Amino acid sequence: MGMSFPDDSARPAEVKPFLRTTWLGKNFFHWESLASTNTQAKLLAQTTGCHGDVVLCEKQTQGRGRRERSWFSAPGGLFFSVLLKPHLPAHRVSELTLVSAVAVAKALRELGIDAWIKWPNDLLVGEKKLVGILTELIAEGGKTQGVVVGIGVNVNSLEEDFPEDLKTRMTSLAMASRKFYSKAFVLAVLLNHLESELDLHASEGFIPIRNAWTMLSSTLGKRVRIHLGNEVQEGKALCIDSIGALVLEGDDGKQFSILAGDIEHLRLA
Ligand code: BTN
Repeated sequence: MGMSFPDDSARPAEVKPFLRTTWLGKNFFHWESLASTNTQAKLLAQTTGCHGDVVLCEKQTQGRGRRERSWFSAPGGLFFSVLLKPHLPAHRVSELTLVSAVAVAKALRELGIDAWIKWPNDLLVGEKKLVGILTELIAEGGKTQGVVVGIGVNVNSLEEDFPEDLKTRMTSLAMASRKFYSKAFVLAVLLNHLESELDLHASEGFIPIRNAWTMLSSTLGKRVRIHLGNEVQEGKALCIDSIGALVLEGDDGKQFSILAGDIEHLRLA
């Protein structure tokens, strides 16, 4: 791209002027560097943490991804986790994965990015990934202590900031729009949307979230390949069901659903 972006940060004093939330991010724990904001938020949950606490770091050294993978925390990125103590039975906690995907998609669109959701909660521009979300349940002795939603956004990262194997698969707000974004402003827009989608979910349940997710999905209607451990299956993505599982139609015409796993978009079915 041939341009370089100034060093940017998302410190509490820079974020607060743009924050319109009533409970999310009122406690904002800002760090220069952390191994993983999710790990830090989990520690917080087990001690003094409250519903709506936000943990953010400018540099993340051991970012964690879904399915025990690592998350490459590219320079110019936002790395933060939200601690939730929702009044939800354990079997409904997976809905929060889709709630956060909807909120992030709406925030990115407000920022002028043509973002779509790949099931369950990757945010894509075209087929390139821009945001990853890791939702973790914190339980001890069978008791739920909270849920941590960790969000990694490639904001001002450039192609050269990614290792060779990720260059073709990752993008950023700056790469998608050729503009520089203030990380503090992006964070505030994300938190504003997150609070309103979480409030909607708490008051009206999963149906409005499912409808919004369906509208913002790039997976539905596509032929997909699913990697379930060592097994690989293919089918056409039809819809998500009442708990957020992806419903597919196999080549034998039979429908089946998956609640967790990795999918690959193949082409329009
Ligand atoms: C994925 O796509 O696999 C999920 C990636 C989630 C990355 C974020 S960055 C902030 C938070 N802290 C972590 O260690 N992971 C999440």
